[in-house]
Amino acid sequence: MTASRKFPNSRLRRTRFTSAIRSLVAENHLTVDDLIQPIFVKEGLDGIEGIDSLPEINRFGLNALDDEIARIQENKIKAVAIFPVIDPVKKDDRGTESTNENNLVCEAIRQIKKNSELAVIADVALDPYTSHGHDGVLDSKGYVDNDESLPILVNQALTLAKAGADMVAPSDMMDGRIASIRNMLEEKGFVNTIILSYAAKYSSKFYGPFRDAVSSSASLGSGSKDTYQMSVANIDEALHEVKMDIEEGADIVMVKPGLPYLDVIKSVKETFKVPTFAYQVSGEYAMLKAAIQNGWLSEEVMMESLLSFKRAGADCILTYAANQIAETLNK
Ligand code: PBG
Repeated sequence: MTASRKFPNSRLRRTRFTSAIRSLVAENHLTVDDLIQPIFVKEGLDGIEGIDSLPEINRFGLNALDDEIARIQENKIKAVAIFPVIDPVKKDDRGTESTNENNLVCEAIRQIKKNSELAVIADVALDPYTSHGHDGVLDSKGYVDNDESLPILVNQALTLAKAGADMVAPSDMMDGRIASIRNMLEEKGFVNTIILSYAAKYSSKFYGPFRDAVSSSASLGSGSKDTYQMSVANIDEALHEVKMDIEEGADIVMVKPGLPYLDVIKSVKETFKVPTFAYQVSGEYAMLKAAIQNGWLSEEVMMESLLSFKRAGADCILTYAANQIAETLNK
């Protein structure tokens, strides 16, 4: 804390007097190195298609992916997070397609790694692949069975690592998944595959547009993820989750959603001092974009929102606005 001096010795407006001086005293910055672009790839799609609830974001067929990758590289973004939209006929109650070495996401990973220097992040969770839209498998009562889900998630992570993913990102919130995945990766020689754990992932209604984008909302119906994702009311529990994931072998931890959870980002970063990412999720992006498109808010709110993540302590942000913001930053 700086010593407080009395007016007029201290006039805080002095350092706000010109734009140059404001830049000199800026405590936080947003750069393209802070941004990760999520990408939706869709099976059997020729070209691209829009997503109603995610303005300016598209689903890409594999034949349209190279152009998007070129754009991201041109914007000097360093990483992408890839999410698959699976052919409904391939979905079943165990998410079997998730461990197919030639599935859509593995093809996309190989294609991106072949054509670019980008780091590729791939989610570990069964929801794009299950007929019921849950992240794990169900027991006879419809409860997501933790220990039955683990081996499938471990195999999924291994499949992604084999395909060339730089980071596997468990977003399923099963207990013990980080240790199980880490053990398998070590055993199979993937010693440098990073585990980016969605450690503090809340059971949030802000994921709505994402579930539309990967068409898991129809499968999930009125079902909720409250028995595995965290309660919106809790923060001590978030620290507990993060602590366990670090001890189990996570390299990077993530808080999700972002803007309504800046307190969580700050606590996690201050407590553990490990690389901490935040996800500006689909609903956050959608609400800002909708207001911008209506002329109710100016475009700068996106930058303001992302800079607030940096102020809270995030090292990096997954945001649908990555390309758009990079294009502004690079001007
Ligand atoms: C899958 C997953 C979800 C998101 C990322 N990975 C949705 C969910 O948990 O239902 C949400 C991302 C977003 O809303 O942008 N487990």
